Amino acid sequence: MAKAVREHLIKMLAKGEFVSGQEMGNQLAISRSAISKHIKALIEMGLDIYSVTGKGYKLSQPINLLALDQIINAWPDNETVPEIEVHSLIDSTNSYLLRRLPNQVSQGQVCLAEFQSAGRGRRGRQWISPFGSQIYLSMYWQLSQGLSAAMGLSLVTALAVSEAIYVNTNIRVQLKWPNDIYLQGVKLAGILIDLEGQPLEPSHSVIGIGLNVNMPAQAAKQIDQKWTDIQSHSEQKIDRNSLCAQIIYQLVVKLERYQAEGLTTMIDEWNTQDCYLNKRVKLLTGERVTKGICRGVNNQGALLLEVDGQIKPIYGGEVSLRGDE
Ligand code: ATP
Ligand code: BTN
Repeated sequence: MAKAVREHLIKMLAKGEFVSGQEMGNQLAISRSAISKHIKALIEMGLDIYSVTGKGYKLSQPINLLALDQIINAWPDNETVPEIEVHSLIDSTNSYLLRRLPNQVSQGQVCLAEFQSAGRGRRGRQWISPFGSQIYLSMYWQLSQGLSAAMGLSLVTALAVSEAIYVNTNIRVQLKWPNDIYLQGVKLAGILIDLEGQPLEPSHSVIGIGLNVNMPAQAAKQIDQKWTDIQSHSEQKIDRNSLCAQIIYQLVVKLERYQAEGLTTMIDEWNTQDCYLNKRVKLLTGERVTKGICRGVNNQGALLLEVDGQIKPIYGGEVSLRGDE
């Protein structure tokens, strides 16, 4: 119920014009004090709403909401668009698709949201997900060869997001094994892959992408590491709908290629964008720190770490990579 009321209020305010509490109350058949509570909740979600006595509530600037028709209009070719759902408020786009496994999802199905109340990063970390200014996108992808193909997924996804950003904005990003996208040395986007299934049987993956487009100041205060967003690096206004279309398109293209050919043909592409290639790095595994030189990735998507002159493949999981200059 609260969700439906808040979604309605967002639509009323989206143009960036004043709307009186009275008008809101009339449309929703609730009291003005109830409206005031919902507005407070929307502000906590990251919406920059203020009020002026006698005029009502107003967004500091209009928001260009995500819209399925605009995503479809921006689709780059004449091929069929996968099933796309656009949600306003959700717990987590990844969790949403996971709840629909195994029978209520189709290959390439996408869930997008304006706000996540429980956005997740790796290892149970929180992904800060303010309303209406970023991209939270999840795609279902069946792995017909089983979970053994899962390791390469985050690399393929990072390459797809990188290509989409370049096509739409002309900005070149860097990639950090296994799941991060960096811009000028700081985190721009993260990738979270959720898996269900067995090693040699057809399995399910949900590929989640959190991409900072235009970070609101309030939300930024909650992030405990350096971050950036695309808008800070572009003079043109970033259109989230067309960026979403391009990301979904590139994902499908690259995932189909991965399914048919594996990672082999994408390794050069990864290496040219790898922010640590041939640099000194530290590999953090729980309390353990291994120092070495990053020598790119292998056909399975494992990191190649040179330690004492020997190159070892490091498979993903509970590991983090850091620079060691
Ligand atoms: P690694 O994968 O190497 O461990 P990481 O420290 O970035 O890198 P992740 O689990 O990939 O860890 O990402 C989650 C972390 O990202 C959170 O702990 C938080 O510090 C940060 N974070 C959360 N929300 C955002 C956001 N919107 N933009 C950038 N960073 C964020
Ligand atoms: C990370 O860097 O640890 C990964 C962050 C992934 C965040 C995205 S936002 C869309 C999808 N839904 C989630 O709950 N998480 C991913």
